[in-house]
Amino acid sequence: MDLLIKNIKQLVTVRANGKPFKSGKEMRDLGIIENATILIQNGLFKWIGSSSEFDQPVEGHLDVIDATESVGLPGFVDSHTHLLFAGSREDEFAMRVEGKSYQEIAQSGGGILNTVRATRTATKKELKKLARRHLETMLTEGTTTVEIKSGYGLTEKDEIKMLEAISDLTDECLMDVVPTFLGAHAVPPEFKDHPDGYVNLICTRMLPYIAQRKLAVFCDAFCEQGYFSVAQCRTIFETAKKLGMEIKIHADQFTQTGASNLAAESGARSADHLEQIDDAGIAALKKSGTVATVLPGASFFLNSRYPDARKMIDADLSVAIATDFNPGSCMSYSMPMMMTIACTHMALTPEEAITAATLNGAAALGLSEKLGSIEIGKQADIVLYDVPGYRYLPYHFGTNHVAKVIKHGTYFDF
Ligand code: NIG
Ligand code: FE
Repeated sequence: MDLLIKNIKQLVTVRANGKPFKSGKEMRDLGIIENATILIQNGLFKWIGSSSEFDQPVEGHLDVIDATESVGLPGFVDSHTHLLFAGSREDEFAMRVEGKSYQEIAQSGGGILNTVRATRTATKKELKKLARRHLETMLTEGTTTVEIKSGYGLTEKDEIKMLEAISDLTDECLMDVVPTFLGAHAVPPEFKDHPDGYVNLICTRMLPYIAQRKLAVFCDAFCEQGYFSVAQCRTIFETAKKLGMEIKIHADQFTQTGASNLAAESGARSADHLEQIDDAGIAALKKSGTVATVLPGASFFLNSRYPDARKMIDADLSVAIATDFNPGSCMSYSMPMMMTIACTHMALTPEEAITAATLNGAAALGLSEKLGSIEIGKQADIVLYDVPGYRYLPYHFGTNHVAKVIKHGTYFDF
């Protein structure tokens, strides 16, 4: 059915006018329309403009929403999550509060490998049930597109189990879901003494099978001391690209390894984390047109260094914000919360934070032609909030202001 949303108090379109993303100063331009009307047909935006100029014939079956009290934004695009997992790690959280670092906990057998143990034991059905609950809550909080990584299986069987679960969720849930293969998330215990053997397993067995079944769009790797080296990640990425997959990378999170340069060299769609990126890394990402995805919740939750997203935007990079939702380093999937942290700890303006959480998130997934802004022809993913104006969203943090979510033209009241 067609849908007319009329009298939207303030519409934040984030319009990109055909550009794949916004970078630098453009990120402040939200394309705001006061008192706006939108017509949605067949799940797409058909007409967008000022209510006084609305001139479309509206006979036939038409749902009408009067949004006089609401502010409209594009649905959030959370372009980096690890939301499929079993178990939880609140004991590690308590240890960190008492002074242990993420790396110390990982070295003593906790961290990623803790969740790997729980996820290997879980069935596909159990994993899906847990993930579905997260996805449902995310939608109620305004997220309409989400990327999900594997990476808690670390065997052929368990990585494929994870990717199959993600594929099922794609078919079953309302959100757009983008699958990423993150076999190189940690070296599994079985390969502790010969990590190159694991890299070889990824390249010769896992990637060819996953590519052939199209179980993942992206190949990601955790390029970090104690995890995978630049050389190992390069080998994995070269194989993945030959098989037609796109690249993402966990880069420069705890140490500056040159991972951002590898991202640029590999033509990665996005380089994520970037807490320790240097000027050369920033310049490399600018040159390759790689989206710089920052994860404010990870620094907040680990109480560690924030990426200098201010510097990145001032260097004209395209910056995206995502949650990194995972049981170890960010147990939150609230995109508004991430925007608040980006404003208070990274000196982003509310306007930049909104662009980073919508259009540039879509760009980090290669989906900005279809998603991420409110423009004619794009998929009708729009969220209405009962707030005085868009700046109120990052300002009044830690609570949900969503009134209605419209996903692909279908709307949900909350
Ligand atoms: O992006 N940095 C590596 N991976 C995750 C953490 C995963 C975990 O601790 O389970 C991240 O922060
Ligand atoms: Fe991550």
